[in-house]
Amino acid sequence: MTHADVDDPFAHLHDEDYARPFARGLAHAATLVTLSGRPMVSLDGAWLLTLDLFDEGLRQRWFDLDETPPSQWAVPRDYEIEAGEPVQVPSCWNVLKPEWTYFEGGAWYTRWFDWRPTVGAGRTILSFGAANYRALVFLNGVHVGGHRGGSTPFCLEITDQLRQGRNRLQVYVENRRQADRVPMHHIDWFNYGGLYREVALVPLPDVFIRQASAALQADRASIRFDLCLSDAVDGEASVTIAALGLEKSIPIKAGKGSITAAASPELWSCDTPRLYEVRFTFRTDAVTERIGFRTIEARGTQILLNGEPVWLKGVCVHEDDLALGKVSSEADIRRRLQHARELGCNFLRLSHYPHHEAVARLADEEGFLLWAEVPVYWAIDFGNPDTLADARNQLSELICRDINRASVIFWGVGNENADTDARLAFMAELARTARHLDPSRLVGAACLINRETFTIEDRLAAHLDVIGLNEYFGWYEPNFSGLDRLLANSNPDKPVIISETGADASPGHHGAGRVLFTEDWQAEFYRQQFSRITATPYVAGLAAWLLYDFRTERRQTSFQRGFNRKGLIGADKTTAKLAFHALASCYRSLGRAR
Ligand code: GCU
Repeated sequence: MTHADVDDPFAHLHDEDYARPFARGLAHAATLVTLSGRPMVSLDGAWLLTLDLFDEGLRQRWFDLDETPPSQWAVPRDYEIEAGEPVQVPSCWNVLKPEWTYFEGGAWYTRWFDWRPTVGAGRTILSFGAANYRALVFLNGVHVGGHRGGSTPFCLEITDQLRQGRNRLQVYVENRRQADRVPMHHIDWFNYGGLYREVALVPLPDVFIRQASAALQADRASIRFDLCLSDAVDGEASVTIAALGLEKSIPIKAGKGSITAAASPELWSCDTPRLYEVRFTFRTDAVTERIGFRTIEARGTQILLNGEPVWLKGVCVHEDDLALGKVSSEADIRRRLQHARELGCNFLRLSHYPHHEAVARLADEEGFLLWAEVPVYWAIDFGNPDTLADARNQLSELICRDINRASVIFWGVGNENADTDARLAFMAELARTARHLDPSRLVGAACLINRETFTIEDRLAAHLDVIGLNEYFGWYEPNFSGLDRLLANSNPDKPVIISETGADASPGHHGAGRVLFTEDWQAEFYRQQFSRITATPYVAGLAAWLLYDFRTERRQTSFQRGFNRKGLIGADKTTAKLAFHALASCYRSLGRAR
């Protein structure tokens, strides 16, 4: 707090540029640190939360205040840390109190922790799994950085701000919907807010491994290893895969190194999700990853896993839970995968934003294929360079985080975006970014139909390996004749995945024929869709929309009441609708669910 502020505590009242000092020091993909196998100190658990609708905390520098009790204040304040509500982290404030359900604004999380230096760890970072949408972090009253983007991890170094003994950590989280954000202010899911994934302290040596990856090469007879360090130093790293008897040194120049070594691992697949322990070391630092080795490619209109065609029997999922909001517990994720297994799936589309990193780790173990994507959803501010920077960074953070996950085969760069020049330039840049960071996976997007030619045609397709198609003939259109016409009219030169199709059904509502919102029509819808989709050679898969009913404020009929009812299972994640069984039967008809 400056001297002037102390003399005039109301100086902040008329400073509308109050947020500028905190725009610097944003974490981004290049500041991420791989956490695999590292010792960490969890900061999950009991925090205090103070809502801050008007950003009073940034105006008045709440983070700068001492902790004297009100009885000792010389002048009144508007903030008292201890008056905050006790909450658990991770959590979404929307599901913690009824009066917080629709809160969209800023909020201050505060906790204290004791810190002692760790031998051999000269540096310390704070790691956040995600905060929706923007976070500013203050340690002992000092702004240490921030992050924007509501579904990706970020790391902030706090080595210089840490105190031996008691430290105060404050995180301002703000979830306002804005036209220039990614996603922008109009979405078909619930805008949860908060520190909704894990927070941890990570002790690190003076020079540490920031990123480490291993990818089977197209020849399926060699593995490429890439390493990036925290600092531009020279030296020698090593990589070991004991189960393969592989131990190689990786020469490091200016903090980076890469080698390709001959190897013939058992291939990862949905049938045999074989994972290998891969250990990277540099000086005193080490990270250990569990990696499945496989190849994925598009050839003609087919998708090949390890050189063999695979047809994707899939379902879309949101991060949404009646009790947890956007928080994904391990139990919630395992239930999702179990339901997908019962449906006969080998594929999940993690819509419409990066999901919790445990999803891909568990899909690696269980043998599922995944489409991961960034929330470039609907009408993004495509002409705004800062919006592009935000989207690129979210995509880069997603790729950095999940680079070693065999289950992830697609990077999705957007969903249902009108075909304009600005959108084409924006999303082509995202496709380039994905390929630059990770040439081993396929790039896709959920595209719209070209209504003029009534074909599967989108200028963006030239920049994609796989065309996602969202179509709802039989639901948003009264019959399936349009689908027949579209599939017959189209002749794409690359694989098409029906990245969404579905119909609403209110659980327990029944009727004969095409009666909207009945379980019977939702089931018939899938039978009608499935017969057409599987009779079309260039369609390489289907991701049904979607596994569970989910919260969305824009849907308010008596059948919906703030929910999207296209789930194959109700929002209770227990009540399977008739369509679940209908689609499961369709998938079974294609042979084994793998
Ligand atoms: C769109 C959109 C989804 C939405 C769905 C629906 O395709 O991508 O996010 O929920 O349609 O209408 O249910």
